[in-house]
Amino acid sequence: MSDSLWFTVDNNIELQQGVLSRLDIELGNVLIRHFPDGESYVRVESDCRDRDIIIQCTLTEPDARILPLFFLADTARELGARSVGLIAPYLAYMRQDKRFQVGESVSSRLFAQYLSARFDWLLTVDPHLHRFHTLEDLYGIPCRVIHAAPALTSYIAQAIPNALLIGPDSESEQWVSAIAKMGDMPYQVLQKERRGDREVSVSIPETSRWKHHTPVLIDDMISTGQTLIETIGHLKSAGLNAPICVSVHGLFSESADVRIMAAGAARIVTTNSIVHRTNAIDLAPLIAEALPTMLPVHRGA
Ligand code: R5P
Repeated sequence: MSDSLWFTVDNNIELQQGVLSRLDIELGNVLIRHFPDGESYVRVESDCRDRDIIIQCTLTEPDARILPLFFLADTARELGARSVGLIAPYLAYMRQDKRFQVGESVSSRLFAQYLSARFDWLLTVDPHLHRFHTLEDLYGIPCRVIHAAPALTSYIAQAIPNALLIGPDSESEQWVSAIAKMGDMPYQVLQKERRGDREVSVSIPETSRWKHHTPVLIDDMISTGQTLIETIGHLKSAGLNAPICVSVHGLFSESADVRIMAAGAARIVTTNSIVHRTNAIDLAPLIAEALPTMLPVHRGA
C-alpha cells in the first residue's frame, strides 16, 4: 500500500492519470453528491489512516467546489490522515487583491486564509499574482508554484513559426517576457484599462514591422474573453495575420471561446489546468515532477 492516497474532486481525469502514471501514489475513492436540497454529501471510501492525502481540485467555479472540498479534507483528517495537501491547477480568488472601493472584501486574502486552515500544503500553476508577489504573502502553508512558461514556449516553438508574442496588459508581462526569452521570440506588452467585468480597452500594438509574423496573444487566463477580443480587433484593423491565443487557464465564462473565435482568432490553445476543448498543453509532467517535494516525508515534516 502506498503511503500517499490521491482523491480527484474535479473532472480532470486525464490530468489525474498523467500524474499518477508517473508516481507511486494510490488512487482513492470518494463519493460526492448533492442532497435534493442542494447540500453536499461526501463519503470517503478509501483507508486514510497514516497516509498523506493529495486532493486534485481545480478551483474554477470555486463557490460550488469549496464546501465539498473542505468536507473531504476534514473527513480525511478525522479518518486518520497524516497530512492533507491540495493540488489546485487553477487557483481561484486571486484577482481581488485590493480593496478598490470602500467596504469590498479582499477575497484573495480571505480565500487564502480559508484554504490555509484546511490544508498542509498547496501546489498550483501560475496563480494570478499581481499586487501580492508570492503565494507565501497570502498563504500560511508551504506553497509550490509551477510555471507553465516552458511548456507554452515548447508549444509555440513547435507549432507556430514566426511568432510575435503580444501580452494584452502589464500583468501579462511576466509570462510574455519569460516565453520570449526562452524561445528567443519578439514580444510587445500592451496597456489595458478595465472599466467593468466585461468592459476593457487595450492599447494599440505597434504593427508595421510584423505583417509577416503570426501574432500570439499570451495571457495567464481567459475569463470573459474581452481582453483578447479587444486586442484581436486592433490586430485585424492593422491587417495582421489572424492571431493564435495561448493561455494557461481557460475559464471561458459565457462561451468566451466561441466569441474569441468569432472575433477573428485563428486558434485558442490552453493548458489542461481546466478541462476544455482548447487543451493542448499537458501539465501532468510538471505536476508529477513537483509533487513529491510537497509530501511531508520530503519536506522533513
Ligand atoms: C487580468 O489581468 C488577467 O491577466 C486577464 O487578462 C484577465 O483576467 C482576462 O479577463 P477577461 O477574459 O475577462 O478579459
